[in-house]
Order: sequence, then structure tokens, then C-alpha cells
Amino acid sequence: MKHIAIFASGTGSNAKKIIGHFKHRRDISVSLLVSNKANAPVLETARENGIPTLIIDRRNFYHSEDILKIFNQYSIDFVVLAGFLWLVPTYLVRAFEGRIVNIHPALLPKYGGQGMYGMHVHEAVFKNKETETGITIHYVNEHYDEGAIIFQARCPVAPDDTPQTIAKKVLELEHRHFPQIIETLLHDPAVQAHPKY
Ligand code: GAR
Repeated sequence: MKHIAIFASGTGSNAKKIIGHFKHRRDISVSLLVSNKANAPVLETARENGIPTLIIDRRNFYHSEDILKIFNQYSIDFVVLAGFLWLVPTYLVRAFEGRIVNIHPALLPKYGGQGMYGMHVHEAVFKNKETETGITIHYVNEHYDEGAIIFQARCPVAPDDTPQTIAKKVLELEHRHFPQIIETLLHDPAVQAHPKY
């Protein structure tokens, strides 16, 4: 059995899709939902699905490695960032090298970096009159949105699109592809081996 921890701090629509995708699987389970917001709606989704939740605070996350002990308790093999906006600390990146992925709502390297998240991305795409946008799933390193790209999918931006309609198209792409890409990565032999932490 491979155990996933999802980090999410927003609505959690991607987390919900991932949870649904693996719900009845015997070989893959979403075993922990981590959030930095005690009132994030995504926590309710986790509870409804019987998934343990963990609320983290900035000080502990950056100045202790306690989360690795908790990951150990839940035998976490793989980490998925789905709408989580904090930079991942070095100790966690190192412990989970090649086992942390993030989804970004644009075609990186365009529209990435600190402050580029959620609607800010779609507003920038709209303002620059881009003719296409999309999603990027990438490995996580110590820098915002800079890890190696695993997968991208594109969608057109029409002249009558607004930041809101762009957001909707992009979210649909995320929901369609993210669970499947996670599944493929979990079957990678490098991920099959137990992580070193
Ligand atoms: C998603 O669109 C994700 O790509 C984005 O936050 C949204 C979360 O939505 N992440 C970033 O912008 C990271 N830089 P959700 O809570 O409904 O899954």
C-alpha cells in the first residue's frame, strides 16, 4: 500500500478529486490531509472521508522536523500539494526528493513564482492577452514553481474570456489530469521504494 499526504489550504476541489479517485483502492490511499488553515473547507472533505487531518503552523513547519515523525506514523510515501502556498522547507524537500509534486494553474515557467497563485495567475494571463493557458504538474524543490516539469495540458483563451472563465477552464483541466498523473507517478519504481526519512 502506498500512502499519500495531500497539502491543501483552499477550497480543496483538487484534493476532493484525488480523494475520490483513490477511495476504493487497495494499493493507494490518501492517508493524511495537511493544511495551514484551521478553517479551510478542504478539512471537512477529509473528515467526511475518514482521512486524518493535520494543521501546521509556520514556526513548527520551518523550525522543526516534527512533520517527518508524523509522516512516519502514517507511512507516507508521497506528497501532493494541491492549492498549498507555502514554500516547502529544505528538510522536507530532501527527505522526499522526487516524491513531492505540485499543481500550478498556468504553463510554467510563465506565470510562476511567489505571489503567482490562484486568481492572480488568471488575471495576469487575461491582462497579457495570452491566447492559451493551462496547467503544470511539477516536482517540488526549494524554490517556488521551479522543480522539473512532469506534465502540462493546454487550453485556449478566447477573446471573450474573463479571468473567471479562464479559471474555470483551468480547474477542469486540473481535475481531469491530476489524479491520473499521481497514479502514474506512484507506479514509478523510484517511488515504489520506501522513502529515506
Ligand atoms: C488550483 O487551481 C491550483 O492550481 C492553485 O490553487 C488552486 C487550488 O484550488 N495552486 C497554485 O496557484 C499554486 N501556486 P482547489 O483548492 O480548488 O484545489
